[in-house]
Amino acid sequence: MKKGYENTGFEQSHAASGMAPVRHVRNYRGFVFAKINDGGLDFEEFFGESLSSFDNMIDRSPAGQLKVAGGVLRYMHNCNWKMRVENQTDTCHPMVAHESSAGTVVEVWKKAPPVTKKPMAVEIIAPFMSPYEFFENMGIRIWDNGHGHTGVHHSIHSDYSAVPGYFDKMKAAYGEERAKAILGENRHNTVYFPNIMIKGPIQLLRHFKPIAANKTLVESWTFQLVDAPDMLLERTLMYNRPTSIVGHDDLEMYERAQEGLHSNGNEWVNLQRLYSPDEAGQTNVAVNGTSEWPMRHQYRAWTKFMTMGM
Ligand SMILES: [Fe+2]
Repeated sequence: MKKGYENTGFEQSHAASGMAPVRHVRNYRGFVFAKINDGGLDFEEFFGESLSSFDNMIDRSPAGQLKVAGGVLRYMHNCNWKMRVENQTDTCHPMVAHESSAGTVVEVWKKAPPVTKKPMAVEIIAPFMSPYEFFENMGIRIWDNGHGHTGVHHSIHSDYSAVPGYFDKMKAAYGEERAKAILGENRHNTVYFPNIMIKGPIQLLRHFKPIAANKTLVESWTFQLVDAPDMLLERTLMYNRPTSIVGHDDLEMYERAQEGLHSNGNEWVNLQRLYSPDEAGQTNVAVNGTSEWPMRHQYRAWTKFMTMGM
């Protein structure tokens, strides 16, 4: 059996639960993926190069391991699940939707005396107010099957202050060059279509679960980097806390957008930003960071999988 795909016992425990039989299970470096259908793409074909984002998140541990930490944060959104997934690559909304929260943080921080140490919360929240140019230059990568990630060249996670002792541990584990390469990768959101998003530099996974056409449960998991300083876990939990002032902006936005879809004013949702006529079928391309290409690619994947075998 290929390394990293050992049987986890998941199949047996799932079968005992009485749910639909799971026929195919893969353990990828500790993350278990399952499907109940014999048809469709196999694991490697489906994920392809996108697994590099899982690799980077896990490699950030000097021991090459993650541990679930901080429990799971569950929150219900009154919107269709596709909105949540689209939003993960929507780089044109932060400076607008989060102006009252992140914008206030920036204003308050400006008034702090010059000697004040920058609080972790400010470091995390302030980049949401970065200008459009920042997000344009950050870049977006497109992969097959609706997968992709924002933050090709840099991201809102790039400028966090160094954690004492962390690089030394990484250097000891991987060697200087490889350690620099791992930590130099600052991908923002990696979307695994249809319903997962991970943030490597924060060690966070969001799982979007459709409950109804207008209801989506989001489960947010956080991970500890085994053998890394505790301050990294503190940052992860700070980013993912239930009282996140940024998260509430989005919650309100989704609900209003869902209400808007029930009106008869416009039959179409516009996803044409930076459309390129030759984009269908292209994969592993890096494009302008404010392009809506990833959303269009998600709908291309949706069409592909919903019509497969027809
Ligand atoms: Fe947002």
